[in-house]
Amino acid sequence: MHDDPGHSARAPKAENISWSDGAVGREGRERLLGQRGCVLWFTGLSGSGKSTIAARVEASLAASGVHCYVLDGDNLRHGLNRDLGFTSEDREENIRRMGEVAALFADAGIVTLVTAISPFEAGRRAARAAVKSGAFLEIHLDVALDVCKERDPKGLYQKVERGEIRGFTGVDSPYEQPQNADLRLDTATLDIDACAEAILDAMQVRGYLARER
Ligand code: ADX
Repeated sequence: MHDDPGHSARAPKAENISWSDGAVGREGRERLLGQRGCVLWFTGLSGSGKSTIAARVEASLAASGVHCYVLDGDNLRHGLNRDLGFTSEDREENIRRMGEVAALFADAGIVTLVTAISPFEAGRRAARAAVKSGAFLEIHLDVALDVCKERDPKGLYQKVERGEIRGFTGVDSPYEQPQNADLRLDTATLDIDACAEAILDAMQVRGYLARER
């Protein structure tokens, strides 16, 4: 089911729509900003370190004058995605919207960091495909469930334990191991700085940090 994007209840509906090109374009915007737009997509279990590591990367990039924005799964669920819960269908739609928004931010020339469990391979693949320039880095924070439970930064695994939350990723809701990750970082053995460093290196190698001006 998750391998079939056409299955989505959110399949295209509108007819008689066309595409309007603006006056500037991505490359023009990138020249104005003096940077390249890209998406850094963080996937992993709750407690794997997505937000923490993204914040470290964001701080480091901002310090060198790069415009960044973090699209956080929890945060977007307060607004754009407030109508979605945690069924597989809702998670698919959550990730579809986050992927589309991230692609727009990247097209605007912004280094866009997405932190969402994003449990399904098909959704992650679609998010990558949505970025027209191809500037997309999938970062799998690969850490054992037991380590996440131990950390339990939001006290959610305890709630799961007490039976107060059902359908929690990694416990009784699936997490499909990434097949296409560009980087796999084990946050149990690498500290936050080492993870951030590896991500910045990968950006450099791919030319995402090239100054345009
Ligand atoms: S996703 O699966 O659709 O990608 P997303 O990253 O937006 O999830 O939201 C996950 C966050 O919601 C977790 O970090 C946690 O704070 C909270 N949460 C609440 N209920 C659940 C649940 N059943 N499974 C996973 N996360 C949950």
